[in-house]
Amino acid sequence: MTTAAAALSGVADRLADAGCESAGVDAEIMLAHVLQTTRSGLRADGRRELDANTLAELDRLAARRERREPLAYVLGEWGFRRLTLNVDARVLVPRAETEIVVERCLALIDGVAAPRVLDVGTGSGAIALAIADEAPGAEVTAMDVSRDALDVARENASRTGLTVELVHGDLFLGLPAGPWDLVVSNPPYVGPDEIETLEPEVRDWEPRAALVGEGATEAVARGAVPVLRPGGALVLESAEGDAGRVSDLLRTLGYIEVGIAKDLSGRDRTVEGVTTLAD
Ligand SMILES: C[S@@+](CC[C@H](N)C(=O)[O-])C[C@H]1O[C@@H](n2cnc3c(N)ncnc32)[C@H](O)[C@@H]1O
Repeated sequence: MTTAAAALSGVADRLADAGCESAGVDAEIMLAHVLQTTRSGLRADGRRELDANTLAELDRLAARRERREPLAYVLGEWGFRRLTLNVDARVLVPRAETEIVVERCLALIDGVAAPRVLDVGTGSGAIALAIADEAPGAEVTAMDVSRDALDVARENASRTGLTVELVHGDLFLGLPAGPWDLVVSNPPYVGPDEIETLEPEVRDWEPRAALVGEGATEAVARGAVPVLRPGGALVLESAEGDAGRVSDLLRTLGYIEVGIAKDLSGRDRTVEGVTTLAD
């Protein structure tokens, strides 16, 4: 018989050999997923003996992770703010830094009755669904150019029981009429040359169209101006080191009250601005 501790140690060694950065934590998360418990639950019972089915399932997950498939895809789900969302290779894995984007959106619509919110490039639906969850009066529309991504977002709306309108389109084309109180986007912002320098989990597994999008930030910032109500807000996630440039872009486009929020690692990451009020 194999104990949980022994199985974890074996999987952690395999993942470390494959170059996974957080091999021990990943091993724990996978076994906790298989046993439907928590990591602390596992640690409290390291001498627990695992049956053959559990070991086989753990081995199956470990083999996927060894190929540097993102842990979220291996598990098939990932946590984002208060939600657990279906996640697979059709969508970007929702990132911790994007939780701050939602934080800023909630602050900007606070006090607005039934705010109309548009999430451009929704992917798994993470931002749109988190806003629908945490601002229950909001009317949220989520759009994406990828029909595969919209299928995942639809699964997640169903999984969470939240209502968001899902629209297929290319940026602002084909959308329901504005005006919007808030436009939010985590646009593709990885440079075409930069992609090859990224970790295999990102480079080899996540959808290219979700990562690489030259000019997408500019296109969203520009396209949001005519569809936002006067005094409406734009919130954008930006690449590490790019928040200053994006702030300047927003000012050039006429946004006021331009500000930057830091991500959980203290890096400038989220940029926001407000359209001017009508005369
Ligand atoms: C960086 S991902 C963000 C996904 C999700 N919002 C999140 O934060 O996890 C960018 C998303 O934008 C979508 N996208 C790329 N180009 C687009 C376009 N021209 N119009 C609409 N969506 C687009 C991609 O399909 C992808 O789902």
